Amino acid sequence: MTIKAAVFASGTGSNFEAIMEATDLKCKITLLVCDKPGALVIDKAASYDIPTLVFNPKEYSSKSEYEKMIHRQLQHQGISWIFLAGYMRLIGNTLLDEYESKILNIHPSLLPFFPGKDAIGQAYDAGARETGVSIHFVDAGMDTGPVIAQESVMIEENDTIEKLKERIQKVEHHLYPKVINQVVSNKVRE
Ligand code: GRF
Repeated sequence: MTIKAAVFASGTGSNFEAIMEATDLKCKITLLVCDKPGALVIDKAASYDIPTLVFNPKEYSSKSEYEKMIHRQLQHQGISWIFLAGYMRLIGNTLLDEYESKILNIHPSLLPFFPGKDAIGQAYDAGARETGVSIHFVDAGMDTGPVIAQESVMIEENDTIEKLKERIQKVEHHLYPKVINQVVSNKVRE
């Protein structure tokens, strides 16, 4: 039986694209969920003929209201996994309860270091020698759930933030599909 998954993203969607381009993905991405009307990732989904659920959180009275709406869509489509890829919002109890241990996030640092926004800039500004990429199960906190995989990226002497970001993204794009395959085939559990 096909395992169906949704990607949640708010931005440019380079990780979404990397997941879609993975040749051996062991699940099928059948939905993009996006909280930013106009985000570039929406065009990317269209180019792969992936249906998109775009919503404006401001039009809902609470997180639980829009998460209930998302949940109805996910259930309707028989989606069993959620992969966050630059979704700039905390997941609330509605989705956490329904998708327990079935939500992953990718973050551009070696967690627990540099959680939250602009993790690459945080590491660069702190003068760290090393940063990297983490993929973790999602809980109610900001980048706090159990880590599944990490890969480090060295910060070079004369690095620029742009060059560092490029190297980090390269790691993200090969690591996420790999970890997705591990979790959907039950090789890793929370
Ligand atoms: C990635 O760096 C990811 O780790 C972070 O948000 C960024 C999304 O980038 N959570 P993109 O939209 O996939 O290019």
